[in-house]
This record gives sequence, C-alpha cells and structure tokens, in this order.
Amino acid sequence: VPASHLRRRPADIIGRADNANHPHIPLPRDLYGPKRRNSRGIEFGERAALTKLVSAIAAEQLAPAGSIAEASDAEANAAVAAALDGFRDWSRTPASIRAAALEKAADLLEARAAHFIALLQREGRKTLDDSVSEVREAVDFCRYYAAQGRELFGEDRALPGPTGESNMLCLRGRGVFVAISPWNFPLAIFLGQVTAALMAGNAVVAKPAEQTPLIADAAVRLLHEAGVPVSTLHLVAGAGRVGGVLVMHPDIAGVVFTGSTEVARTINRALAAKDGPIVPLIAETGGINAMIVDATALPEQVADDVVTSAFRSAGQRCSALRLLFLQDDVADRMIEMIAGAARELVIGDPCDPATHIGPVIDAEAKQRLDAHIERMEQEARVHFAGQTPQGNYVAPHIFELSDAGQLTEEVFGPVLHVVRYRADRFDQVLQSIERSGYGLTLGIHSRIDDTVEEAIERLQVGNIYVNRNMIGAIVGVQPFGGHGLSGTGPKAGGPHYLARFATEQTVTINT
Ligand code: NAD
Ligand code: ALA
Repeated sequence: VPASHLRRRPADIIGRADNANHPHIPLPRDLYGPKRRNSRGIEFGERAALTKLVSAIAAEQLAPAGSIAEASDAEANAAVAAALDGFRDWSRTPASIRAAALEKAADLLEARAAHFIALLQREGRKTLDDSVSEVREAVDFCRYYAAQGRELFGEDRALPGPTGESNMLCLRGRGVFVAISPWNFPLAIFLGQVTAALMAGNAVVAKPAEQTPLIADAAVRLLHEAGVPVSTLHLVAGAGRVGGVLVMHPDIAGVVFTGSTEVARTINRALAAKDGPIVPLIAETGGINAMIVDATALPEQVADDVVTSAFRSAGQRCSALRLLFLQDDVADRMIEMIAGAARELVIGDPCDPATHIGPVIDAEAKQRLDAHIERMEQEARVHFAGQTPQGNYVAPHIFELSDAGQLTEEVFGPVLHVVRYRADRFDQVLQSIERSGYGLTLGIHSRIDDTVEEAIERLQVGNIYVNRNMIGAIVGVQPFGGHGLSGTGPKAGGPHYLARFATEQTVTINT
C-alpha cells in the first residue's frame, strides 16, 4: 500500500514528498569528520562542495509541502496481506539482484542528498551537521548490507557428510517483517532496518515514527525506484496504535523495532500472547549511558568529549551520555571546564549552519524534559543551566547527584548528571552502572590499563569507547546495539545482523 494511497489525516506540512530530479550534491567530508568517509571514499573540493550543498538545501527549504495520512487498522492489515504476496517473488529473487537494488538506492541517496538533508532539518529538526551525518549513515547501511548480503545469501553452504549424501545449509527470508522505527534517526535507522530485512529476502511493512513520516515516505519511494518491487515494501504511517495492529497480524514472520524500552516490552508481550508461529523480535532500545573519568584523564579532551556526547544532537541519541562519574580529586576542575565548553554551544535554528544544538523533536518532548529539569533543580546541585530560546528548545543543563540511583530512567535530551566517586570506591561505580539494568554505551577516560580492562570485563555494555566521545557509531566499524534493558541484539551495522532476519534450512540429499 504505497503511502500516496493512504489519505486520511494530513500531517504537518513540512517538505516535498516527491524526491525526483534533484541535482547531484556531493557530501563534504569536513562535516562528516575524517573517519566518516563512506564506503566509496569520495574525494571532494570540500569548501566548494559545502557552499554548493548549503545553497541546494536552502532551495529545498523553499519547496512546496507534502502530507501523509494515518493508516486505518484495515489499511495496516491490507499492507501485510499485500506484502505476503510480494514475498513469494522477492524471496526467490537472487541475492545479487537484491543487493544491486540496495546499491542503487545508495547512489540515489547520494545524488539527492540535499533533498534528504533539507527534510531531516525541517521534519526531524536536525542540525546541518547531524543531517549530513545521517545521510552518510543511511548510504553506508545500504552499501554495507548489500556487501554482507552478497556473501551470506549468495550461495548455499555445503556441509560435510557421508559419501553419497549432499548436505547444504540455506539461508532464506522468513516472510513479512514489520519494521518499527523512532524519530531520532528517521532516515538512517528506518533504512537500516528496512534494507537489512529486504536483503535477507523478506517482504517489509515499515511503520515509521509519527513525528517523521515524510522522510520515511521519501526513503520508500527511493527504494521502489531502485528496484525493490512495490509489492515487497509497504509504508504504513501512523501513531503507535498502527504499530500495535501490525504486530498482532497473524501472518507476520518477524518484528524489528528501535525505540524505547517500554514499547519494546509492550511489543514483546503482544507477540508472546499471540497464537500461531513464534515470531522473533529484534529490539534496539535506550540506555542510562555512563562515562567514567579518573584523575589520569586529559582534562581538555574530557571536556570536549563530554560536551559532544551529552549535548550534541540536543542529547537525542540513544548513545548519548547521561551519567558522568568523576573521580573526586579532579571533579571541580572538570565540571568547570565542561560547563565552560557547554557555554560556547550555539543553540538555535537547525537550518542555520552555525547551530550546534537545534530544538527537541516536539512540544511533548520539551514538556517532559522541562519537568525533569524542574525536579533536578529541587533534588540536585545545579552546575550549569544554558539560556533556552523561545520554542521547543532545551538548553544544556548539568546537575550533580549525591547518588547515581537518583536517575532511574533514560532522560532523552541535553541534561547531564554528574556523580563524584572516590578512587578506592571504583567498584561501587561499576555496581551502580550494573544496577541500572541498561547496557548500551559506556565511556571511559583513564590512562590506567587495569581500570579500563576491569570496566570492559565487568560491564555488559554493547558499545564501549575509551578516551574519546561515545556517540556516532560508524556502520561496519562500530556495530551498534546493547544488552539487557537496552536491547536484544544483534548489532546494527555489524556482521551478524542480517542472519537474524533469515531462517535456516538444512537440505540432505541422498545422491
Ligand atoms: P518510542 O518507543 O516512543 O517509539 C518508537 C516507535 O514505536 C514509533 O514508531 C512508535 O509509533 C512505535 N510505537 C509506539 N507504541 C507502539 C506500540 N504499542 N506497538 C507498536 N509500535 C509502537 O520511541 P521514540 O520516542 O520514537 O524514540 C526514542 C527512543 O528510541 C529512545 O528511548 C532511544 O533511546 C531509542 N533509540 C534506540 C536506538 C538504539 O539503536 N538502541 C536508536 C535510536 C533510538
Ligand atoms: N548509532 C547512533 C550513535 O552511535 C545512535 O550515536
């Protein structure tokens, strides 16, 4: 059911849904960082490319608007039925052709980068820097899964056996995968889920976050244009309720979900209560991510990495730093430097290239964050409170807690919580991180090998970053995903991801 056929409730008027005929705008590497070159390693005249990109985005911002409609229950169910039809042909389509479609999608994304960047800024409220990185990540997901998929699904694997028998292990698509995604990476995570499921031979019904449906619509149209049959990939827009309808459909073969721990639990319970086949759930969720800084750390580097990890993207990354453990000998000095660096951040219009921190996603998110900040003002020591402009903005805040246990839930915004620890109580720091039950990202700033090794060995955390910032995992370089309350694995952008979307068949033939 293409989105254009779902016409009920127009959403906000935000951007042009049609993404055809956009000029080729290369993505400048200086916005992406030297390590974030995509798999093609494109070389650019960077300053010229940046100027060209910014003016192409500005032209997109003036483009006419689009709208999208919320699906009814009947439309959501019809999408699954249609995808089941599409699955029959797609599952028999050779892996090389499925991979070629993903690679073509990557080419189209690069060619229309300005359009997607403009959509990410307008609908996703992302800064230029974050929007460019996100298009890069989306391109990388398409190319990485295509490359992995050619190897994994290209040929069945011959297994040993007695003379006169052939034994083959075959990986096949499972059927219809439901892909449910969040608003904070509305292009990269959306496409990462969808392309992985498609590469493994599944048909897909994708339900993007209600805050960012136009980006998803543009991405689905792009995949159709790249060669994924319309019958194989369906977009169903709407609120969480629509996701709930899809999950309960009797004919789905799997769910891939990225979002909050609470919704992952709801989906898990719904799947468990359903009659019929046992349906796998791949869930990537949130975290109360910690960084540990001891007295051997380099203060300037710590200040820079803490500000990047806690406040960039307005703290709206699942990987973002929430809880900073500072060794008491250096805590005052570190807090002063971190607050000083936070003061330098420019908060404002996400479309202005000078902006470091844009608005939070919507008024509801702002209200939730403001309520948390008010509570912290009563319960914690305030070290820094930035100037908040009018609108859905939340300025960076730094609070000191007397106990890490005061933070029991993920706070999805630019709010940093600091806890001091004594060097002889390092074990208690590890215990309080373990007690949270989450295990997504962890930062360590220390020059003592034993300290670093102990934290790595003790803590069940998916992504650990030592003496650097802790956001911005790169596809194929830092496979991403957590443990415990932070998700089921396997890691997105890693070598084991695709296999989880497939089912295995062993075929033994007496020759
Ligand atoms: P959310 O859980 O509110 O929503 C995620 C998606 O689930 C949306 O599409 C929503 O419509 C849908 N949904 C809501 N209720 C549902 C239900 N009952 N059944 C089926 N679907 C339902 O999360 P969000 O606010 O969009 O995103 C922020 C959260 O995502 C944060 O917790 C963040 O940590 C997490 N996140 C995790 C990762 C990761 O890789 N681990 C990446 C990005 C975001
Ligand atoms: N993968 C994203 C990051 O690492 C969430 O920041």
